[in-house]
Amino acid sequence: MPRIGDINLPDFPLLLAPMEDVSDPPFRALCKEQGADVVYTEFISSEGLIRDAAKSVMKLDIYEKERPVGIQIFGANLDSMLRSVEIVEQSNPDIIDINFGCPVKKVVCKGAGAGILKDIDKMVSLTKAMVEHTKLPVTVKTRLGWDHNSIHIVEVAERLQDVGCQAIAIHGRTRAQMYKGEADWKPIAEVKNNPRMHIPVFGNGDVSSPEAAMRMRDEYGLDGAMIGRASIGYPWFFKEVKHYFKTGTHLAPPTMEERVDAARRHLEMAIDWKGEKLGVFETRRHYTNYFKGIPNFKEYRLKMVTSDDAANVFAAFEEVLEKFGDYQFA
Ligand SMILES: Cc1cc2nc3c(=O)[nH]c(=O)nc-3n(C[C@H](O)[C@H](O)[C@H](O)COP(=O)(O)O)c2cc1C
Repeated sequence: MPRIGDINLPDFPLLLAPMEDVSDPPFRALCKEQGADVVYTEFISSEGLIRDAAKSVMKLDIYEKERPVGIQIFGANLDSMLRSVEIVEQSNPDIIDINFGCPVKKVVCKGAGAGILKDIDKMVSLTKAMVEHTKLPVTVKTRLGWDHNSIHIVEVAERLQDVGCQAIAIHGRTRAQMYKGEADWKPIAEVKNNPRMHIPVFGNGDVSSPEAAMRMRDEYGLDGAMIGRASIGYPWFFKEVKHYFKTGTHLAPPTMEERVDAARRHLEMAIDWKGEKLGVFETRRHYTNYFKGIPNFKEYRLKMVTSDDAANVFAAFEEVLEKFGDYQFA
């Protein structure tokens, strides 16, 4: 069974991917309830943390019920990264994850995120310094390489392992690909098949069905799947994959009652966490996905996403249940 440091994981664990503006505490808690074995925060700027930027610091909040949880940080400056490790430790996460995969220009041009894939020596030395600076397990999330001509992930993963990285999650795309094309899991399998590798190698990218997760396990032999987009507005994905692994059959999609319940609890947790105004505002983006595919839903969606008043949003949920309670999801 895979382990991250002292954390024992089940066979082929499912990890909720770090996702900006998505993987917040309420969403992580819902995914955990539905079977995610490890959850990660969205990426947090080390520069923001050391300047005590309120927005970055708030991202450090974690619930006990979501453990094991990894806090993901990014940056390119060694001193800032080490100081942010000390700040992150105060939130007592189970894992510190380093983002070496973000392809966004404003991150990459500072040499952070996937930008570091242009300087593997720096990637390794930064990881080493962070490992030496904390007792918490340090993990890495990265991509195959900078571009098609620089896929050295087998060597990179081995070097990261050798400096103490405790697990690696690899998105099967290069930085140049951004999110285009299909994720290629073959180079990830090569990392796993390297006889020197002993830390868990998690696959990421395009695990969009239980069948895909099964291929990642059985055909590619990876240690677990990190799941991003398939879970957005659909925390049930984790349960569906596990059910498929166990029985070979598909679980029925969540009913309207379950969807309304998730939306309601998401909003309740968000309000609890950041107050009514922000809670109402920041949960809006999730509703479209919770209620995807329902015909003639616009009027209700608008009520959910335009009201500043939580009571109105909760009332809209009740209306949805009344009006569409019997809707059969395909
Ligand atoms: C909205 C969104 C936000 C993301 N934010 C982050 C992030 O903060 N840190 C990170 O390492 N990756 C981030 N990613 C990348 C995902 O973690 C993941 O690698 C990618 O979506 C591929 O996996 P998937 O096909 O399962 O979605 C983000 C992806 C999306 C769609």
